[in-house]
Amino acid sequence: MAVLAEMNKEIHATMNINQLLRILVQKAGVGVNFERCLIYLLEEDYLRCVAWIDRIKREKASIIEKRVGFRMDENAVEVLVVKMGKSIYVENTLQDKRVSPKMLRVSGTREYGVSPLIGRKSVLGVLTGDKFYSKDPILPEDMESLQLFAGHISLALENAMLYEEKEKFNKILEKTVRERTSELARAYQDISRKMTKLSSFYQMARLLNESLEQNAVLEQISTLLGSLGYDAFSVTVLQDGRAKNVFRKGLGEDDERYLDYPLPQQVPEEFWASPQVLVINDNSLIRLPPGYMEYCQKRKIQSSILTPIISNGKRIGVLRVYSPNPDAFADEQKDFFYAFGQQAGAALENAIIYQKVVDEKNHIKTISTRIEQENLYLKERIKSEFVIGRSPKMAEVMDLVQKVAPTPTTVIIYGETGTGKELIANAIHEMSPRRGRSLIKVNCAAIPEDLIESELFGHERGAFTGAYEKRIGMFELANGGTIFLDEIGDLSMKTQTKLLRVLQEQEIQRIGSKAPVRVDVRVIAATNKDLRKRIEEVKFRSDLYYRLSVFPIKLPPLRERKEDIGTLVDFFLNKYAHIKQNKMKVHPEAMNVLLKYSWPGNVRELENVIERLVIVSRNDAITLDDLPRELWNDATTNAPAKHLGEAVREYKKNIVIQTLASAGGKKSKAAEMLGLPRSNFSRLLKSLNL
Ligand SMILES: Nc1ncnc2c1ncn2[C@@H]1O[C@H](COP(=O)(O)OP(=O)(O)OP(=O)(O)O)[C@@H](O)[C@H]1O
Ligand SMILES: [Mg+2]
Repeated sequence: MAVLAEMNKEIHATMNINQLLRILVQKAGVGVNFERCLIYLLEEDYLRCVAWIDRIKREKASIIEKRVGFRMDENAVEVLVVKMGKSIYVENTLQDKRVSPKMLRVSGTREYGVSPLIGRKSVLGVLTGDKFYSKDPILPEDMESLQLFAGHISLALENAMLYEEKEKFNKILEKTVRERTSELARAYQDISRKMTKLSSFYQMARLLNESLEQNAVLEQISTLLGSLGYDAFSVTVLQDGRAKNVFRKGLGEDDERYLDYPLPQQVPEEFWASPQVLVINDNSLIRLPPGYMEYCQKRKIQSSILTPIISNGKRIGVLRVYSPNPDAFADEQKDFFYAFGQQAGAALENAIIYQKVVDEKNHIKTISTRIEQENLYLKERIKSEFVIGRSPKMAEVMDLVQKVAPTPTTVIIYGETGTGKELIANAIHEMSPRRGRSLIKVNCAAIPEDLIESELFGHERGAFTGAYEKRIGMFELANGGTIFLDEIGDLSMKTQTKLLRVLQEQEIQRIGSKAPVRVDVRVIAATNKDLRKRIEEVKFRSDLYYRLSVFPIKLPPLRERKEDIGTLVDFFLNKYAHIKQNKMKVHPEAMNVLLKYSWPGNVRELENVIERLVIVSRNDAITLDDLPRELWNDATTNAPAKHLGEAVREYKKNIVIQTLASAGGKKSKAAEMLGLPRSNFSRLLKSLNL
């Protein structure tokens, strides 16, 4: 029993199975008074001999590393003991059929005992013992103590095995914990990276939306990229189909030539094909446009990342970030840059729209100031330069003007060049309730055929090549006021059709827009052409003609209202008096020529002649010599042979007109100058139809 106590004590000193087995087998051998003992342990379906002691030959027990023992389907007492869980005493190995001959060969003993090592749940193995050397008999007490030791051995072994298992488990657990820890660390890193990304996204969105001004937005893009460590980049935007480099940083300013290429030639084909972020870490790996290669080589750019700038799902440009290092950009950055490109796109588009609104506002402002100034000037002119002419024909005209002016009726003014069509149009507007609003003048003959429509009706952005901006047409500008369509006979048939629609429906359609815009515009047209003849030539639409002819006013040529010449001459002498700081007179002889001349250029020609005369004549009065030759010739050759009475009458009339002109229209003064009593002069005027 002392041995058992000692064994128990030593058992606790170690948890190493081999060492334990050695102790166990040794102590058991001593305790049970056997000479040789063996421990077999069950390893799956093999009962392996693991330790043994031969107390006669050596003191210490040995561990058996080799695989010796029995398969569990072999015929052996040891196997039987495991299967039954009971001790067996073999009295004669030679006669006992249960004994394995293999064991017999090795041990050579005649008598031996085998006890099972019974664990908590199953049999662990067996302990055998014999008295080979002394050949003493194995007594029943020996078998009992073999069994007792076997019990203790099982306990110790099971403990050790559990311990070992626990250690193994601990190791697994530790490993798992270690793995989980690094996994967690990775996740944490990931999250913190995401957080940084998120916060830069947030910052980006906030910063980019801070300003509506394109330059400010670009500065902010630059600041953001700078804070992320990128200091060489360019921003190119597509504007009206053209690439515009709107921002560059950290790149040489020299070679601008490359930047003139259209955008698809500035970027690799692959990038243009799909709106993805493209990382170029090795310039030789990708088919780059030659311009791009040259650009990179010149700047020692080794890698770059190309990001589409996207707004409303449309590519509006490209952000290029460059690095002098190879492999500066990784695929993981693509998501970030893609989102950056979208944010930047939204901000830039906003800025571009904002700029357009500002531009348009300015455009309208410029136009309205121009119109205001023009109107002011016109008002001045109307005040000082009223329509001159007391001839019956002009009186008729002025009567019509007065009647039609207050109505919204469309008016067409016919008349040769220089007869005062524009002047009459001004008068109608000024005498109408629209006088405070704009009078927009369009010279239909002066505007190129391909521009006239957009000039009149306006266009949407991109309505045709060259339509970079939205434009408001003259009709819209004249809204509430009057539009004066001068030289209407020169409009193309196509534009005539559109004009007809406007006149009928009082609404216009900007080119490139489907939505009609209602306008309230009074139309005054003018032409020096014979519109009926143009209809015959199929150059003017007859329906437009009838539409315009609601209220025609025909201005007589000056030669048909010579009575007005004197007044007009006087009027223009006044007008140009400032040139010589003195109002000039016209010598009667010179006046006679002016009256006889046929004035193909009408009032404009007369005005020009007077202005020239005021400048060239050296004296206070304009003499015959001052007059241009063509006036003379025309005045004399054009004079047809007349009856004396008629000639005298005409002569008288001319004299009276001249005198009236010199007298500034004052009848009493003219009578005095002619040496006639006032009453005679009045009668004379009447007889001359003046
Ligand atoms: N009755 C008038 N009284 C004063 N000035 C006149 C008169 N008629 C014409 N004028 C002047 O003659 C010039 C030419 O007139 P206006 O431009 O109105 O002619 P128009 O018929 O429009 O000529 P065109 O067909 O060549 O355009 C202007 O300077 C205008 O002020
Ligand atoms: Mg005119």
